[in-house]
Amino acid sequence: MKILVVGSGGREHSLCWAIAASPLCSAIYCAPGNGGISRDAVCVPIDPLDIDALVAFAQSTDIDFVVVGPEAPLAAGLVDHLEAVGIAAFGPNAKAAQLEASKGFARDLCHRHGVPGPDYARFTEPAAALDYVRACGAPIVVKANGLAAGKGVTVAGTLLEAEAAVAAIAKGQFGQAGAEIVIEELLIGEEASFFALVNGETVLPLDGAQDHKAVHEGDVGPNTGGMGAYSPAPVITESLQGQIMEEVMLPVARAMVEEGRPYKGVLYAGVMVTDDGPKVLEFNVRFGDPECQVLLPRLMSDLVPALMATRDGELGHFSLRWLPSAAVCVVMAAKGYPGDYEKGSEIRGLEQLDDMEDVILFHSGTRLEDDRVVATGGRVLGVTALGSDVAEAQKRVYRAIDVIDWPSGFCRRDIGWRAISSSQGRTT
Ligand code: AMP
Ligand code: GLY
Repeated sequence: MKILVVGSGGREHSLCWAIAASPLCSAIYCAPGNGGISRDAVCVPIDPLDIDALVAFAQSTDIDFVVVGPEAPLAAGLVDHLEAVGIAAFGPNAKAAQLEASKGFARDLCHRHGVPGPDYARFTEPAAALDYVRACGAPIVVKANGLAAGKGVTVAGTLLEAEAAVAAIAKGQFGQAGAEIVIEELLIGEEASFFALVNGETVLPLDGAQDHKAVHEGDVGPNTGGMGAYSPAPVITESLQGQIMEEVMLPVARAMVEEGRPYKGVLYAGVMVTDDGPKVLEFNVRFGDPECQVLLPRLMSDLVPALMATRDGELGHFSLRWLPSAAVCVVMAAKGYPGDYEKGSEIRGLEQLDDMEDVILFHSGTRLEDDRVVATGGRVLGVTALGSDVAEAQKRVYRAIDVIDWPSGFCRRDIGWRAISSSQGRTT
């Protein structure tokens, strides 16, 4: 099969890495890819939102299957356009991608179908949103309704912050994504990510994975796309997995079918485990980044048939096998991220990772200039290591990180700490 992966981040690098290893894959392309992906796939310089160009490329290259990484092309209807010309594609269509593309839509759907979440309200008038925020008081959560690359959410500790967040959205900070404002009750608890392959009413959970969103050690500082991840995730116990399946995943999958938007693809639920049980924080219609970079190295089953079964509606007959090992991924970002950061600095020493056992290097934002690897993004590299448990994987990953010579980059040194302290808690 000829397979095209759409996207350019670490998630897409891990998808290309896993797909390229499948005996079913005869050729792999990535649009647009990045410096590291070009070692695993043929990179084609097409923007993920240039739907016409992607469809034309898939047709002219006789692509059999397209795997879409990021949410924006899914919400823009890339899968609809590919399927319309007979090209099989992994990911939800535009109607189903609304689960991520409109936070208000997702909240209303959950509300109609009794899926637990925070109290919330939707506003198209900023003045009405401000009145509501003042009536509720802080803490409170203010969100731009649409896709804002993870930056549209403010967890406001004070009324002043909440008002400023509403004002920023009203001023157009997020463009059309801020045409509607969603205000939510603050949920308190531990956050967990839950991933499942979904086709219609069939939901096949993936193993647990957890990311660290905050930029600084100890999980403090501004939120990022994710500074690292680990799998399995002790927060998702077997009983919590059962509860999330029964109370969130299955009802949402059924609701989407009932409302004429059957879901196909990977569904990622961000959940807050509160004293009243799990409550939905948000849905994403794609794999997490960097969660994908710890899930796929632990997947023993061939990824390609799993993705195809999701697309073809044959998940009911499917099971997935996972390595018992743990995986930890540490993201290296350009200094300054998630604020302003420098681009174009050279990264040296990466070739030494090739010989390290159980270490896999994924690129998120790099370009090759001759033989030099140059940083082009905020999150630039993701190094994943496997180990018998999270503690061993963590040691191995930092040994690998330490040989990378990149003075303009930084990483958190504590990725996986929660899993390590919870396992120490169990054994002492
Ligand atoms: P979202 O993109 O909607 O998941 O929001 C990004 C982050 O904001 C989440 O991962 C949570 O840490 C936080 N967050 C979002 N909504 C809420 C909420 N209602 N209560 C508490 N924290 C929230
Ligand atoms: N790691 C968070 C996300 O992919 O949205």
